[in-house]
Amino acid sequence: MSIKILYLSPSSQLGGAERSLIDNIFALRQQLPLAELSIIITAAHGDLASELETLGVQVFLVPLPAQISKLGDSSFELQNIISNLWQLLIASSELFKYWRNLQQTINKINPDLIDSNGFKTHLLVTSLNVSCPIIWRLRDFISSRSLMKKLLALVKNKVGLAIANSEATKDDWHSVFPNLPIKVIYNVVDITRFTPLSDLQSTISIGNANIIRVGLVATYARWKGHEIFLQAIADLAQQQPLLITKVKFYIVGGAIYETDRSQYSRSELIKLTQDLNIENWIEFIDFCTDIESIYHSLDIVVHASTKPEPFGRTIVEAMACEKAVIVANAGGAAELFTHSQDAIGVAPGNPQALAEAIRDLINSPEQRLAIGKAARKTVTERFNRDRLGTELVSIYSGLIVY
Ligand code: GLC
Repeated sequence: MSIKILYLSPSSQLGGAERSLIDNIFALRQQLPLAELSIIITAAHGDLASELETLGVQVFLVPLPAQISKLGDSSFELQNIISNLWQLLIASSELFKYWRNLQQTINKINPDLIDSNGFKTHLLVTSLNVSCPIIWRLRDFISSRSLMKKLLALVKNKVGLAIANSEATKDDWHSVFPNLPIKVIYNVVDITRFTPLSDLQSTISIGNANIIRVGLVATYARWKGHEIFLQAIADLAQQQPLLITKVKFYIVGGAIYETDRSQYSRSELIKLTQDLNIENWIEFIDFCTDIESIYHSLDIVVHASTKPEPFGRTIVEAMACEKAVIVANAGGAAELFTHSQDAIGVAPGNPQALAEAIRDLINSPEQRLAIGKAARKTVTERFNRDRLGTELVSIYSGLIVY
């Protein structure tokens, strides 16, 4: 008898959480080739679904009604409840029908274990009638999510195990749910895909090889620090007018989640570049399935999250590609590197500090090279996907009752 694992994902786009999910499924597939793997995605078809189909995963799309997927936690703050009342009422009747549909889909799959990848699916699955063990992946902090915290408190006892992406994430969840069983498993990357290749002709094609390319790779979630990055560029443009002519800056990513208020739109970011008078230095690039080609085209990768980052997958991906990465040094991101050895740490939310770090790396190709080399070594030792399969099988088999 082969085991049946059901994954749940609230998103079908390829943000860090989804790229990490793909690694998990890939690693498990290698380790247990006969396992029956399926996923319910509570969103419309997207790149995640396509990638998983090629791994032989059976994909069920059960998209949440639009009114519900648009609601983020902020919709439930008092001033927003009033303006959203109508939307919330429609949402609750839609939700009921939705629930029934989801329950039927899970009954049909009849899994031995469910592994859920995001807040919305954590909540949905634990509120259903499910008899197999449930795992929650903890990929984001909970303590500041006022509504989600209350809702998950109602269902948390149904969780067999939670897996956090860093010690910082684990500590944050334990500060809210002290008895939740949590194990830390750092995200991993495929070091045969994220390689030190340098590729000027790929996704970012700029004819001039002497230009230094600096990019922020992130979803457009407001806390990912786009404003800080843009202010740092404005600082540099003002203080180092000569230096800046040798540089091009990139904002890579998009507004990939469906919650309305929590992310920037591209037009907002473009407006910001115009207000700061730096639009000529900046190019916008969408996420793509071969994200490694983006890192290959960059010289310096910037991570600028203004809130502590739970893990910071792009940091590790870029490090694997031997890039010099500047990291907003807080939360789980601070667990990934050693300052000045394999990456450069800066205080989060501080454009001047970021501008200085960018300037220093632009001025020192030797330092970029040394940091990049050390970074790849760190990833090979600590974040290599090869280790994941055995870890997962041991966790899963400890939970499944045969
Ligand atoms: C979430 C977190 C990010 C992490 C990713 C993968 O998107 O915000 O820090 O890298 O999940 O675990």
